[in-house]
Amino acid sequence: MSLLEIKNINRWFGEGENRVHVLKDINLSIEKGDFVAIIGQSGSGKSTLMNIIGCLDTPTSGSYRIDNTETAVMSADEQAALRRKRFGFIFQRYNLLGSLNARDNVSLPSVYAGMTHAERNHRADNLLHDLGLDGKENNKPSELSGGQQQRVSIARALMNGGEIILADEPTGALDTASGQNVMEILHKLHDAGHTIIMVTHDPGIAANANRVIEIRDGCIISDTSKNPHIPESRVHSIQENTSWDFLKDQFVESFKMSVQAILAHKMRSLLTMLGIIIGIASVVSVVALGKGSQEKILENISLMGTNTISIYPGTGFGDRRSGRVRTLTVADARALQEQDYVENVTPVASANGTLTYLNQDLTAQLYGVGDQYFDVRGLKLAQGRLFDSDDVSQNYQVVVIDDNTRNKLFADGVDPLGKIILFNKRPLTIIGLTEKDTNSFSISDTLQMWTPYTTLMNKITGAKHISSVVVKVKDTVNSQAAEKGITELLMVRHGTKDFFTSNTDSIKQTIESTTGTMTLLISCIALISLIVGGIGVMNIMLVSVTERTKEIGIRMAIGARQSNILQQFLIEAVLICLIGGLAGVLLSFIISMLFNWLATDFGMVFSPASIIMAVLCSTIIGVLFGFMPAKKAARLNPIDALSRE
Ligand SMILES: Nc1ncnc2c1ncn2[C@@H]1O[C@H](COP(=O)(O)OP(=O)(O)OP(=O)(O)O)[C@@H](O)[C@H]1O
Ligand SMILES: [Mg+2]
Repeated sequence: MSLLEIKNINRWFGEGENRVHVLKDINLSIEKGDFVAIIGQSGSGKSTLMNIIGCLDTPTSGSYRIDNTETAVMSADEQAALRRKRFGFIFQRYNLLGSLNARDNVSLPSVYAGMTHAERNHRADNLLHDLGLDGKENNKPSELSGGQQQRVSIARALMNGGEIILADEPTGALDTASGQNVMEILHKLHDAGHTIIMVTHDPGIAANANRVIEIRDGCIISDTSKNPHIPESRVHSIQENTSWDFLKDQFVESFKMSVQAILAHKMRSLLTMLGIIIGIASVVSVVALGKGSQEKILENISLMGTNTISIYPGTGFGDRRSGRVRTLTVADARALQEQDYVENVTPVASANGTLTYLNQDLTAQLYGVGDQYFDVRGLKLAQGRLFDSDDVSQNYQVVVIDDNTRNKLFADGVDPLGKIILFNKRPLTIIGLTEKDTNSFSISDTLQMWTPYTTLMNKITGAKHISSVVVKVKDTVNSQAAEKGITELLMVRHGTKDFFTSNTDSIKQTIESTTGTMTLLISCIALISLIVGGIGVMNIMLVSVTERTKEIGIRMAIGARQSNILQQFLIEAVLICLIGGLAGVLLSFIISMLFNWLATDFGMVFSPASIIMAVLCSTIIGVLFGFMPAKKAARLNPIDALSRE
């Protein structure tokens, strides 16, 4: 039984009228350990036959058996395994990978066969040494002469054992001396037991072989052997390693190749990433901005007091007739104070008027409030004292002023405490000063002052109604139930519903849900830019596959599986997206630093969830948009890919 058995093989190329019959009923068997030269004119079908022998191409019809195993029924990966384990290719134009140095080019076949990194490098260096390439291990192909490149490619063919060496015009691109050198190497390999099949159009070169087969127009016209007795071959292929380590190693190698590919096109990779960077940065920043503003607003609301319910006259905020509704009174506030769900109640009356001090006249807002008001509203005292229940019951003419008023009325260094001011010509003694209010809800430049509501109503305005009631509900009571109770009580007292209530809890919920909705909305828009970025990645990956078709062909010729190619391109796409995603997160950190520096009101708040989501998102985009180009690369026919320039 022969090593290689070819029976009635035909190869047609093209379709319809352009269909050409290149190989016509070829029958051939090659023995183990032989040195065969296939000779013929240009276009006679030598390379086509060689490619079929090397499982790079499949015949249109006929049978080809290797060690009595039919190849026609083999899957792409089974054929790749044959190329990897048993064949070693030497091409006329070397077909080395330009981005790898000599050592890595030589060791590439064993990457796919699962040899460890150290073992691989050791063997590659030995082979390079045997072929007289000491000191050239780290040279890229472009830094080597033609003859040296061809020797590197011979070393590569031997890397996995090279039981059957297939050489297509190995001396075709070399000068005579280098050509001779290559022939000497092939002789040595033959002596060592390798089976050698060489294609040439030069009878002088063919004379080196033991057996010469001549083809003309796709038919064998002669077949002569010098010595029909071939010694037993001692060459064996390496054993493949398919353990878990092997899978890990494959991944590491694919990863390295992807990084090399990205680094080889830095500018292009960066521009591709830009879409992802912008997309991720905007999603993360918008979410952080939304969260920051929401937290600030909620903080302000909790400053206003938790579990407080305010009652105003009218039908709702913005009701213009509410000023004429005069039914809300101090008696209502007292009635509310009696309820067991109420902790305390403070009526609020207010008046706009003229504030006079020395020779200054200013417009100011005076609030008449209960002594609990400061506590409920979260106003802090900076200086002096707040008024107490005594001040309220005795209608004392005392006033607490805010920071704005203090700045308007008094020069720096003047102590306002104890000074008497006039509000609508009524004297009030300043007893306290509140801290500067950072609550963004309040209008910053109005002058605000607080006096007991009794003082305001009885001594200044003379009004009988108040402008609102603030109720602090007991902590154990549900604020909605309390709101219902208050409404029912006041309905009974007033006879109609001429008031409305506002609950900090429901404001909180509304704000939470509105900022949530806004963030979601803007995130959706940002997501579109992510998708556009993903399409950019897909586009570039398709270009990359087209550009590197030759490289894919070379990898397949030396035994890469479809999964290896798929993995390599997929990792590349994911890596671009992942780096883009991380850069996007970094960019949004920079944006937030700038923002927090410029804006004093509130800062951007990052949540780990949004960052994890962003990174996950970019990975998914990489897989999603990288899959199509990667699949395209993996499905390429080895010989088509290889013949692409
Ligand atoms: N993919 C293809 N599609 C169509 N025709 C093809 C294809 N590959 C080869 N051929 C044709 O098959 C014939 C044989 O080509 P092949 O490459 O085998 O010739 P060759 O003997 O190796 O020639 P050379 O010495 O010039 O390399 C040629 O006429 C060529 O045009
Ligand atoms: Mg050829």
